Amino acid sequence: MQKTLRFVTGNPHKYKEVKAVIQKNFPNFEVLQSNVKLLEIQADSLEEVALFKVNSVKNLVKIPYFIEDAGFFVDDVCKGFPGVYSSYVMKTIGYYGILKILDDSTTRKAHFESVIAYLDEDENVHLFKGINYGKVSIEARGNSGFGFDPIFISDETPGKTFAELNLEEKNQISHRRRSLDKLVEFLKKFDDSQKKI
Ligand code: IMP
Repeated sequence: MQKTLRFVTGNPHKYKEVKAVIQKNFPNFEVLQSNVKLLEIQADSLEEVALFKVNSVKNLVKIPYFIEDAGFFVDDVCKGFPGVYSSYVMKTIGYYGILKILDDSTTRKAHFESVIAYLDEDENVHLFKGINYGKVSIEARGNSGFGFDPIFISDETPGKTFAELNLEEKNQISHRRRSLDKLVEFLKKFDDSQKKI
C-alpha cells in the first residue's frame, strides 16, 4: 500500500537525503516536503527538541508527518558540545570555530546524532534515533553535503570527510539514514499488523 508522509523541514539538503533513501529502499513510501518554519528551542537533549518541534506544527501540517533534529557532538575535548546547540554554533563560529577549539589536539572523537519525531494518524508521537561515530578532521575537506560534513570523518569511511562522500555514500551510513530506517521499519510493522486484522 502506498504511504505518503510529510517531512517538515526547511533544509533542502535534509530533504534530498531523506527522499533519496526512501525512493531507493522503500518504493511504497512517498515523502513530501512541508516547509513550515520550526522554532529552535534550548533543551538538554535532541529528543526534547524533536518533541517540541513535532508538536509545534500540529495544526499546520497534514498528518502523518515527521520532523528530524540532528546534532554534531565533539566528545572528549568538548564533552559533547555543540550537540543540541549545533545550529547556533554553525551560524556563529561555524565549523572553522570547532577546528580552532580542537587546534592540533590528538583527541578528536565526535559523532552525529539524528532524532526523528513522527506524528501518527492518532496524534501519537514516536521517536527514532540514529548515530554515526567518527572524529573531527584536521582541516575542512570536500564540497558535498552541508553543515559540519566537511570536518567529520566517520569510522566507517576512514580518510574521507562526509563532505567528500557523494549523496549515496553518505546515505548508506549516516545518522539520518539510521533514524530513517527505524521509522520505516516501524511503519512497515504497523502496515503488516493492520493487514492481519
Ligand atoms: P538541525 O537543527 O537538525 O537542522 O541541525 C543542527 C545543525 O547541525 C545545523 O547547523 C546543521 O547544518 C547541522 N547538521 C545537521 N545534520 C547534519 C548532517 O547530516 N551533516 C552535517 N551537519 C549537519
